[in-house]
Amino acid sequence: MGPIRIAIDGYSSTGKSTLAKALAKRLGYLYVDTGAMYRAVALYLIENGLTLDQLIEGLDQIQVDFDSDQQIRLNGRVVASEIRHMEVNQIVSQVAKIAQVRKKLVEQQQRFTQSVVMDGRDIGTVVFPDAQLKIFMTAKPEVRAQRRYAELKATHPEVAFDEVLENLKMRDFEDENRRVDPLKKAEDSVVLDNSDLSPEEQLDWVMEHLQDRKLV
Ligand code: DC
Repeated sequence: MGPIRIAIDGYSSTGKSTLAKALAKRLGYLYVDTGAMYRAVALYLIENGLTLDQLIEGLDQIQVDFDSDQQIRLNGRVVASEIRHMEVNQIVSQVAKIAQVRKKLVEQQQRFTQSVVMDGRDIGTVVFPDAQLKIFMTAKPEVRAQRRYAELKATHPEVAFDEVLENLKMRDFEDENRRVDPLKKAEDSVVLDNSDLSPEEQLDWVMEHLQDRKLV
C-alpha cells in the first residue's frame, strides 16, 4: 500500500490541529500544520517591513520548512512561537489570499511522500484531492468563540467575548469567500461537528472511519 493521506479541513478554532496531532501520533504518521506555513510567510513580511507586492517579488527568498521535531522554520530559524503573535493573526489572511503564495506552499505540501495527517483549509480539495480520508471540521460559532476566548484571556485579559465571536465570524467569511482555494467542503469528506465531543471521542470517531475503510 502507498502512503495514506488524511486531510483535515474546516473552520478556524474547531480544534483541527489538536485532532490532527493526536491522530498522527496514534498512527505513527507525519503531522503537517499548513496554517503554520502561511503564518511563517506572513511573519517574513512583518519582519522585513514588506508590502504585499514586495512579498510576491521576493518569494524565492523565503524558505519555509519543518525541523525533525516538526517545528516550523523560516529560512532555517525556528519560529513556532512568533507565528502565533497577534500581528501575524492580523495579516495572515491577506497573505493566504495571494495566488503566488498558495502555489508555492501547495507545491511544497504535495512533496510530502510519506503517510501524513495534514490540516488546513484546502487539503482535501486542492493539496490531496485523492486523500483516503477527508474530514471537514465544524462546531457552533459560540462554542468555537468560547474556546478561543478562554485561550486569549491568558495573554489579553481585556478581550471581550463578543469581540472574539465577531472576529471569528469575519475569518469564516474571509476563508469561504477567498477567490483562490477558498474553504469549501470536499464532496467526499465526512463532517465532524465537535461542539459536544471530547478530544478522545473525536479520535475514536476518526479511528472508526479508518477501520470502515480498512486503512488501519
Ligand atoms: O489554521 P491557522 O489559523 O493557523 O491558519 C492561518 C491562516 O492561513 C488562516 O488565515 C487560514 C490560512 N490557511 C489557508 O488559507 N490554507 C491552509 N491550508 C491553511 C491555512
